[in-house]
Amino acid sequence: MLSRVTNTAPAVEPSRPFDEIPEPPRAGLGGHLTEWLGIENAKDVLSRLLRYAQRCGPVARVRLGPVNLCLVSDATLAAAVLEDPRANYKGASYILTRAVLDNVLLLNGKEWERHRGEYKLALKDVDAVGSARAVTSRFVGETKSGALRLDQAVCQLVGDIAGDFTAGVGLGPELEPHRRRIQYELAGLGIDLQCQPWAYLSPSRWVRLRQSVSAARAYFRAAVDTRMARPDESRKDILNGFLRLARAGQYPGDPESIQEGVVNFFFTAHDVLASSVTWCLYLLARHPEAQAEVRAALATGALDRDQIDACEPLARVVRESLRLFPGYALFGRTTRAPMEIGGYRVPRGTLLIVSPFVTHRLERYWTRAESFLPSRWEGRATAPVVPVARDNYLPFGSGARGCLASHLAVPILKTVVAHTLRGLELHVPSGTPMPKISYWGTAYAEDGLPIEVRSLAS
Ligand code: HEM
Repeated sequence: MLSRVTNTAPAVEPSRPFDEIPEPPRAGLGGHLTEWLGIENAKDVLSRLLRYAQRCGPVARVRLGPVNLCLVSDATLAAAVLEDPRANYKGASYILTRAVLDNVLLLNGKEWERHRGEYKLALKDVDAVGSARAVTSRFVGETKSGALRLDQAVCQLVGDIAGDFTAGVGLGPELEPHRRRIQYELAGLGIDLQCQPWAYLSPSRWVRLRQSVSAARAYFRAAVDTRMARPDESRKDILNGFLRLARAGQYPGDPESIQEGVVNFFFTAHDVLASSVTWCLYLLARHPEAQAEVRAALATGALDRDQIDACEPLARVVRESLRLFPGYALFGRTTRAPMEIGGYRVPRGTLLIVSPFVTHRLERYWTRAESFLPSRWEGRATAPVVPVARDNYLPFGSGARGCLASHLAVPILKTVVAHTLRGLELHVPSGTPMPKISYWGTAYAEDGLPIEVRSLAS
């Protein structure tokens, strides 16, 4: 007998109210808010978010005083959210950052779209890998066997690389204290979240910050003025990218606008790149077998782009380190209109948090999530890492505001690692516990990352 065919469409689950989104148990009298305020709590935000996602599932809700925070930890849901124009908005917590650095990439709407388009064009033809190769070779040549503060060394190394591919300069000693203050204060001011906003009402702190921003501008302005006075077409850096755009009438040609483009790029690139490179090298220092495998795979050859791109063990290590330490550990959006997320009705004005750090460390998506296992990427490591959330992996974000330079960042990271391992052996004594991870704009080790190096040249 034939079964009866019906035309009934599958029942669509009605969406549920926002208040039904699981919420972690409240801590103490003041609820969750008390867990969020203050510098020390701010540093612990990654482990707290991870706990929320573990307890509550793909969407978690936390009420922080007047603000509703919604953590989306499932990558497919996060991708849909980050694609949605209703969520493509950098809200109140970014306003101070914008005000201090005039970071145009934190704008919204048409203005942001225009700047993003210009910035994308300025990146065309930039030889960031050439900068990474030259600067890392110099670093390796100058590094002697012995103790090394890896975090500090990489901060300088990546500063020199980022300075080189943005404006043909290094991270000079006159820039470094200002860079450090700007980075520290901007993270605190609320790149994604605000802790202790009242601390920033101190006038002297604002004055010092403004002075550092002016000094950073002056530093890059000198590079712009020099290049405008003596053009050098041989350089494939972002500064020449902006000058080329200006000549074509696609970007303002005054030195100040060009300087602002360069400053924004330097600060966007340095912090996240330094964090990613530091953790990748640190993981290799802790895992001598992975280090030896990459070194053996790159033992001969010119270490040019083709060789580095094709090196499977290196690609596996880089993917795995970006899983455990995605440089940009969390980012926020504010909903501009009600929207549905994961079957819940989320109201306008909700602070949405997407954290690659959290998604990448959830056991429900990753077996042995906390372990460094490059082999998990076997057979799928060398494909480009793109700013699209896929397979619960999103180190470069996703959607309209995803990373503009992932096509440069991964090759830079690989180049630095390849050249470092060719010349240096990195070592952390076995049994050393994993350092405590803190958050301050990126994930970092609060007590630094001391390692031992052995120069292979000697
Ligand atoms: C491994 C290193 C890097 C990682 C992990 C990374 C990750 C990210 C992520 C996750 C975002 C999106 C943030 C959001 O959605 O709110 C982003 C945005 C961005 N990144 Fe990267 N990035 C890296 C390196 C770089 C470098 C080297 C540059 C510049 C040369 C760069 C330029 C940008 C820009 C301009 C944006 C802003 C895009 C916009 O707002 O429209 N990134 N990055």
